[in-house]
Amino acid sequence: MTRALASHGIDVFTNPRAVGAAPFGAQQAAILDRQGHAQAMAEMAAWPGYAETPLVSLDGLAARAGFDRIWYKDEGGRFGLGSFKALGGAYAVFRLLAKAIAERTGATDVTAADIVSGRYRDIVSGITVTCATDGNHGRSVAWGANLFGSRCVIYIHATVSQSRQEAIAALGAEVVRTPGNYDDSVRVAAADAETHSRFVVSDTSYDGYMDVPRDVMQGYTVMAAEALEQLPEGERPTHIFVQGGVGGLAAAICAHVWDQWGTARPRFVIVEPDQADCLYQSARNGGPTVVTGALDTIMAGLACGEVSPLAWDILDAGADAFATISDAAAADCMRLLASPAKGDTPIVAGESAVAGLAGALIARGSDTLSKELNLDGNSRLLVFGSEGATDPAMYEKIVGRSADAVRSKAGGSA
Ligand SMILES: Cc1ncc(COP(=O)(O)O)c(C=O)c1O
Repeated sequence: MTRALASHGIDVFTNPRAVGAAPFGAQQAAILDRQGHAQAMAEMAAWPGYAETPLVSLDGLAARAGFDRIWYKDEGGRFGLGSFKALGGAYAVFRLLAKAIAERTGATDVTAADIVSGRYRDIVSGITVTCATDGNHGRSVAWGANLFGSRCVIYIHATVSQSRQEAIAALGAEVVRTPGNYDDSVRVAAADAETHSRFVVSDTSYDGYMDVPRDVMQGYTVMAAEALEQLPEGERPTHIFVQGGVGGLAAAICAHVWDQWGTARPRFVIVEPDQADCLYQSARNGGPTVVTGALDTIMAGLACGEVSPLAWDILDAGADAFATISDAAAADCMRLLASPAKGDTPIVAGESAVAGLAGALIARGSDTLSKELNLDGNSRLLVFGSEGATDPAMYEKIVGRSADAVRSKAGGSA
């Protein structure tokens, strides 16, 4: 199966604007900073259901694919929602509610526990949060709204699966399906929010709308911090490969690692679907570039045609390379993780979870690309498996077994 993956193509663009070993700068710190991270960490660590997700060492795969180490941060169990997105949208909902409470009562130290206790029910229940989603972000926002007691309307575009829709509705949100692609649904959600005085909790920034997406990304840094803590004492990755949609996930990881490790940070590579490659095209064109069309990819969470400008401001300088892979490569990588190399634990990874790992494995299979990206037998790879089987029917169709069947082979630990 590793060989099957290595036979896929990959397009790699080395970023001419990458600043490499430069320190974490003021421009980046103005977007994501240590104080914001510490606040997100302290807050979410106290939330019901918080637990670190595992960092799995895939030694069998590393040996077979020509790496020294491969570490896989498995987000499948995050807050019971199935993806890392649980950290972002729900945290932004909390921040928004805390701000509204502060404005109306003067209380500036409101915690999630205060809100959950019902102390501010009158204020919170009168607030409606909303967003567009291809599944995971909306689920996080709906979960946060449900936890804190506010109302919630979530927009999904034409091709979001029925099971994703049901998962969001099960959290008490009203779900509205719109024609067109993800970017179209973002615009409808924003327009309706204006009409109905709702609060938009978007994971992507746009002109005049930066605070909420910044909170979303700050929430994601909790995952990055966990991973750094979980690495074996004294061992650090040489490379991080991470998948990109609007770029928020990649920017949060890039910024956090850069801030923590400064000039000694690993090489940072972003991988996208070849059918939805807005970050890759932006890198090639030297600035945010819109990709139009159906954005037709099985990697639903990565099916974005417009970068988040906030994320771009970090990645433009912080990412060393941008790459694209096919759906077939992602599917092979899901199957590879479900039926892993000898000694490795089977992992349930959804369609949008594996682009980073798939990209690294494909690149390592090519001498030219290994050279270009400095990959060799001493390379230590850190990847973020950003979701489990968030669309169970799709997972089973691709892998040929249900997530439960894969997990049972892992002794219930995958
Ligand atoms: C599972 C998963 N991985 C990665 C991403 C990409 O995150 P971003 O859009 O912040 O780049 C998403 C986005 O929805 C996702 O759901």
